[in-house]
Amino acid sequence: MDNINMLKEKFNQLFKCVCENVYFSPGRVNLIGEHTDYNGGNVFPCALTIGTYAVVSKRNDRKISVHSLNFEDLGIIEFDLDDMIYDKKHDWANYPKGVIKTFENHSFKIPTGFNILFFGNIPNGSGLSSSASLEVLMGIILNDSFNLNIDMVEIVKMCQEAENKFIGVNCGIMDQFAVGMGKKDCAILLDCSTLKYSYSKLDMDGYKIVIANTNKKRGLADSKYNERRSECDTALAEIQKVKNIKALGELTESEFEEIKNCISDPIKQKRAKHAVYENQRTLKAVKALNENNLTLFGRLMNDSHVSLRDDYEVTGIELDTLVSLAWEIDGVVGSRMTGAGFGGCTVSIVREDAVDNFTTTIKSKYKDKIGYEPSFYIVNISDGARKLQ
Ligand code: GLA
Repeated sequence: MDNINMLKEKFNQLFKCVCENVYFSPGRVNLIGEHTDYNGGNVFPCALTIGTYAVVSKRNDRKISVHSLNFEDLGIIEFDLDDMIYDKKHDWANYPKGVIKTFENHSFKIPTGFNILFFGNIPNGSGLSSSASLEVLMGIILNDSFNLNIDMVEIVKMCQEAENKFIGVNCGIMDQFAVGMGKKDCAILLDCSTLKYSYSKLDMDGYKIVIANTNKKRGLADSKYNERRSECDTALAEIQKVKNIKALGELTESEFEEIKNCISDPIKQKRAKHAVYENQRTLKAVKALNENNLTLFGRLMNDSHVSLRDDYEVTGIELDTLVSLAWEIDGVVGSRMTGAGFGGCTVSIVREDAVDNFTTTIKSKYKDKIGYEPSFYIVNISDGARKLQ
């Protein structure tokens, strides 16, 4: 691959040594099951062919030297294995640092430092999990370089822990799991309360998965994300006074309707409603897909967006505009926001012969309304994080 040779050359120039190994970790798109992971529900994501590359060599000392071609202005960032604390000026490098620190906290010995050149082709802040991609990438580098023999699911869990505790974003497990455990041409149905999972083949002959990026810069995403999470926690605590459950994901729609009034704040009641209904919707959608009922799958995607817009309130004008424009286009089976929301991307299933019309029409109408253009990616589904060379 030309890309990889270019990265290796760049690595040699930067670090004045020859690279030893090359790794790749994908981004992800979630087809349905949004904001359900931290509510003990189900998600249905898949890994993408776009992602993050790393070219690596071990060092003899305890220094870690990293550079990203996506943040060239920041130069080479250096830190020491004996001084692994969050440092604002280390910017993006706090993600790999957090993973190393978390491995050490779990008693995995990292005996030497290394040099790493990173390059990612996932648009930053697009909601396609560039951070989980980077975290799991660091996880597999450590696992492979020091023969740690850690199971991928354990790596995934430590990467989520790094994001929660080191970075301070209270994310669920979906992104790291999809990135680590993805499988070519399949989506993963993951029960986030038990981590039981199964793969569904995405046999979408004649249809494409199209991602549309709002290109809205997300600033407040993280704080609103944590806010939604704690709203759900409060709603759960109130329900727990009358019903013995561990997570909102345990409830069916009718069980929720029966006890919803014990959630005193109507806003928190809406948040919990989304968590419960979205989880059930995800199970219905996966069943529909497994029965080749793409039409029903698409309808459930649309319902998911409505619930995220009206009850969970994580969409915003950019995502809503993209989705409502998509709904008007002939050949669109379903369209919804994907990821955390507040900006980022939508995911749509579009009949192959309608894709050109989809992108041109939405591009111009979105620009008229929002003032700048969205971007589109027609995606392919890949395997999870792995060593390339
Ligand atoms: C972000 C988080 C995930 C998940 C989604 C919403 O991507 O990292 O854990 O909660 O938002 O479904």
